Amino acid sequence: MQINYTEKIREKIENKDLKYIILTFGCQLNENDSEKISGMVEEMGFSKTEEFEKADLIIFNTCCVRENAEERLFGKLGEIKKMKEEKNVLVAIGGCMMQEKSMLEKIKKSYKYVDIVFGTHTMQCLPEDMYKAIIENEKVKNIIDIDGEIIEGLPIKRNDKTKASVTIMYGCNNFCTYCIVPYVRGRERSRNPEDILNEIRELAKNGYKEITLLGQNVNSYGNDNFKYCNSKVTSEINTFAKLLRAVNEIDGIEKIKFISPHPKDFKDDVIEAIRDSEKVSKLVHLPLQAGNTKVLKEMNRKYSKEEYLDLVKKMREKIPGVSFSTDIIVGFPGETDEEFEDTLDVVNKVKFDQIFMFIYSSREGTVAADRDDQIPEKIKHVRFDKLKDLYEKIVEEKNEEYVGTVQDILIEGFSKNNKKMLTGRTDFNKVVVFEPQNNEKQGDFVKIKITENHKWFLYGKIIKE
Ligand code: SAH
Ligand code: SF4
Ligand code: F3S
Repeated sequence: MQINYTEKIREKIENKDLKYIILTFGCQLNENDSEKISGMVEEMGFSKTEEFEKADLIIFNTCCVRENAEERLFGKLGEIKKMKEEKNVLVAIGGCMMQEKSMLEKIKKSYKYVDIVFGTHTMQCLPEDMYKAIIENEKVKNIIDIDGEIIEGLPIKRNDKTKASVTIMYGCNNFCTYCIVPYVRGRERSRNPEDILNEIRELAKNGYKEITLLGQNVNSYGNDNFKYCNSKVTSEINTFAKLLRAVNEIDGIEKIKFISPHPKDFKDDVIEAIRDSEKVSKLVHLPLQAGNTKVLKEMNRKYSKEEYLDLVKKMREKIPGVSFSTDIIVGFPGETDEEFEDTLDVVNKVKFDQIFMFIYSSREGTVAADRDDQIPEKIKHVRFDKLKDLYEKIVEEKNEEYVGTVQDILIEGFSKNNKKMLTGRTDFNKVVVFEPQNNEKQGDFVKIKITENHKWFLYGKIIKE
């Protein structure tokens, strides 16, 4: 069905050399969706440009997890209005933000020049939407609230040639009280393991070396009994632990990462799969969100401070060389200075390699947004700065520990700041800059001895094995 629309558009725009630009505002899942959107529009005959002025089709893939993601969209939409007046450019907006009723209303009312609006559950219908907009000259709103079946086989245009993301499940069931994601992405829907493994085998065949498995809660993979799959699931790979082990067996793939797991679902089988699978990164992302047990309860995170620390301890005992990254929110409603100290305490104890820090942002429709004990912006910022100072101190300490060590690094390409130098990342996601020795290139694995610490990156030297 969609293929027919794609073909009709292709006939219509043939030989016109039409270009598209896509702007992605959200997380890696959103990025992965953008790669599929790009795949669909390239099949229609559009080619990619990075320059706004050259685009005949502008696509926004939106995010609504925090207010600033929304502000960025409206800033850009303002610029587009002028462009629209000057030339015939098609504007399409999709993604999480379009699943919010108030935002959809705002677009309808104040941004009438937008041609196509689509949501997270209707992305696969883009060819039909584009057909209506291009051929029938209609304004299209294609949003539904129901999580449909999982759609397999969409074309995909990947951004990178060595690293690829593979979505293993959609949606989230957790309803953390601050978070909008479960409302805009629907319930957890696990893909058929065979589809996932085939996709990764194909990637390996095409030279991809590093795979990131994506989902809002990857370690609950399979808990839905695959009821949203559109094909029969016969495989015995019905848990995240089993999936990790199966991906580890795929020849050609050399590094496996995953985000995000939830601490509440970190059972022993997952810990053992990480330990036993040599390709799985030993930097585990373990979202903390807050360090105080009362705040965690109010966030509906389902673990206490002690349980989180016990999990870290257990993983350290079981997985040699394990290290952690995390997400933290400061200024959740009602959080006192004393409660915030618990967050600093956990950070001090775990010594995360990487912390993604967020200032709490009230999201309409979530439980926490209705609370009348919101924290003043000024206090949120003071806490953010305190956390940042502590994080920077830990980064310095950790970097010093890395100097002198040898790290396996997948070369990502030349450094943006110095075209003579190569860059890549350690297993702990630290950027390392080093000089090429024998025409090493993107996609090669090299051993690097870390020589200098430059805070947000490290210098190193290629060594022979
Ligand atoms: N499912 C993933 C993360 C999804 S969103 C997980 O649970 O780890 C990514 C991060 O955004 C979250 O981990 C959280 O730290 C942050 N976040 C989500 N909602 C937020 C809000 N309302 N304000 C500030 N940060 C938020
Ligand atoms: Fe949001 Fe919580 Fe789901 Fe993550 S687990 S997407 S933070 S509700
Ligand atoms: Fe944003 Fe949607 Fe991802 S709200 S963080 S793009 S799931």
